[in-house]
Amino acid sequence: MEPPSILTLLTGLLLKIISLLTDDCDRKSFRSTCKVFHRVDSLHRTHLRVFRPEFLSLVAKIPSLDSHDLSDCPRIDDGTIPLLLSSIPSGSSSWAGKIKRLNLSRCTGLRFPGLQIVVGFFVNLESVDVSYCSGFGNREAASLSCLAGLRELNFNKRLYVTDVWIG
Ligand SMILES: *[C@@H]1O[C@H](CO)[C@@H](O)[C@H](O)[C@H]1NC(C)=O
Repeated sequence: MEPPSILTLLTGLLLKIISLLTDDCDRKSFRSTCKVFHRVDSLHRTHLRVFRPEFLSLVAKIPSLDSHDLSDCPRIDDGTIPLLLSSIPSGSSSWAGKIKRLNLSRCTGLRFPGLQIVVGFFVNLESVDVSYCSGFGNREAASLSCLAGLRELNFNKRLYVTDVWIG
């Protein structure tokens, strides 16, 4: 058996260090140290909040991501979502299947047609936040009901957890 390369050892060490950085600020400075640190940080990330919809295609490169926050992208709507999702390189479909939590809070332009596309893409979603999506109605709720694994739905301060509405 080949001994592990110095790079593998270093990556393991860096991953350990990252797991100890709980403060966002510390994570940020770690990431901006150099390209290698940035890459290792991407390997470790499970949650990502994107600030521009265009960055959606880049996040497909983060292998351990399972939670995605688009609440800072209110411009996402029924017209832009097909373009954004098609910009994700093919071969990333297994990546989309790993996403369990999606935050669409304040994406008011996302209605039934757009949500249909979203649930067809992120098929294994377990938690969706559609709070402050003013257009969210019965049709929109119906589109999310296609998600077999959905357990939590956040909707205008009401929380749906496996068969019951709370609050
Ligand atoms: C979704 O994002 C909004 C706005 O950033 C935040 O208030 C909310 O807590 C997030 N939802 C979840 C489930 O994390």
